[in-house]
Amino acid sequence: MAYCAPSSAGPFGIIVGGSGLVGGSIVYHFKKWGYDILAPNSKKMSLANPDDIASYFNKYRPDFIINTAIAAIDANPKLAFDVNYVGSINLAKVAMALKIPYIFFSSAAVLPPGLNLREEDHLPLSADITNYAKSKLMSEMTLRHLGENEGLDYTTIRLAIVYGKHDHKIQGFHRMLFAIADQSMPVLLTRPRVYHSYSNTRKIPHFVRHVLSNREEFSGQTFHFADPNPVELAQLILTIRSYLELKSPREVYLPLPMARFGATCIQHLIRFLAKIGIKTRMPPELMFLENFYQSQTLSCEKLQRSSFQDPFPEETVFTRLPDLIQYYLTRWEQLNLMTSKTQDFFDPQKLSEEFLRNPAQLLEAIHERKLSPFMEPRFNPSCGVRKSAATRSHHC
Ligand SMILES: NC(=O)c1ccc[n+]([C@@H]2O[C@H](COP(=O)([O-])OP(=O)(O)OC[C@H]3O[C@@H](n4cnc5c(N)ncnc54)[C@H](OP(=O)(O)O)[C@@H]3O)[C@@H](O)[C@H]2O)c1
Repeated sequence: MAYCAPSSAGPFGIIVGGSGLVGGSIVYHFKKWGYDILAPNSKKMSLANPDDIASYFNKYRPDFIINTAIAAIDANPKLAFDVNYVGSINLAKVAMALKIPYIFFSSAAVLPPGLNLREEDHLPLSADITNYAKSKLMSEMTLRHLGENEGLDYTTIRLAIVYGKHDHKIQGFHRMLFAIADQSMPVLLTRPRVYHSYSNTRKIPHFVRHVLSNREEFSGQTFHFADPNPVELAQLILTIRSYLELKSPREVYLPLPMARFGATCIQHLIRFLAKIGIKTRMPPELMFLENFYQSQTLSCEKLQRSSFQDPFPEETVFTRLPDLIQYYLTRWEQLNLMTSKTQDFFDPQKLSEEFLRNPAQLLEAIHERKLSPFMEPRFNPSCGVRKSAATRSHHC
């Protein structure tokens, strides 16, 4: 089969997992910087299906591959193994065959609890760790093996808890934000002085681009990519609460045994509901319940010693909170996900209230040009290109 070359001048990359939280931000930034990017979704190329991978790369010959794909965090062993491990290594094999760099995203889930953990640290590979952690750790180890023995040009980027816009699955940090905003966290599910590291999706693409442009320095290496200062979980929760002007969660620390007991009760309730035909599931984050009670901070020393310069050194999860809260609350309210009372603040023009209660009056006001919720398109006739179907043929 003939393969497609990139249509623009920029390097041509394939980002697997490009519809996700991390992948989406990389796709967006790389396109903005003029890279030619393809981001096949899992229907077009599933990492669980080696034939998909083979036929996709028979068609496209990129200059690099970035893998940010993961199966659901609570996926069964088969899916976790097939997608997170076998799929990741199959992509590495493609990269090796094409002699191009492979950027793999891993997770702090491979690390034990502790402070200032380094890139060399990891959990022992055993049956006891979660399927997610096991598959990530195995991938890291096989990539190192392929790098050392078969010349794979790879970089592993280990992320901490990720924060940023466009987490449409509402996972991890954003699940916690949701629980607070929805007032379904009556007390603090942690204990004092529990610290974690956080990774910012606005900074990740800058690092990936730097890593790709400096292969000599970054090839065959693992890097922690997180904000330099760890964050106390209780302080973060209480700061979110204060931005939202809520009374809960109250500043009461729920002891871990009670939290475990609560989780077990929920599990029993879910099983009971299933018996009477009501299908519901445990929030997958509850499998990380213990982590809310244990510090885990990542050393960023190696990152800081590297040639990479943080593009937004002043930015932290705290400085991003107002923007993230505004973004997610607007989105969750619009999707009717919030069970608590919505707040007027997020619709300053109050047009949605009019839409809800007085649609006829709203329409009249619009037609009489008393208000306009529309954009005013202004185009310069001498600018812009009309892309033909042919030049876009390789886009998904
Ligand atoms: N989010 C965090 O807090 C966090 C923390 C530490 C590390 N990480 C790491 O960062 C990376 C990205 O995570 P994320 O939070 O951005 O994940 P995400 O939002 O859940 O996105 C997962 C992506 O994987 C794709 N995918 C799922 N199954 C696939 C399959 N069988 N074949 C191909 N693609 C498939 C999905 O594509 P479709 O939608 O098309 O199925 C989606 O684009 C992962 O390696 C993760 O381990 C994330």
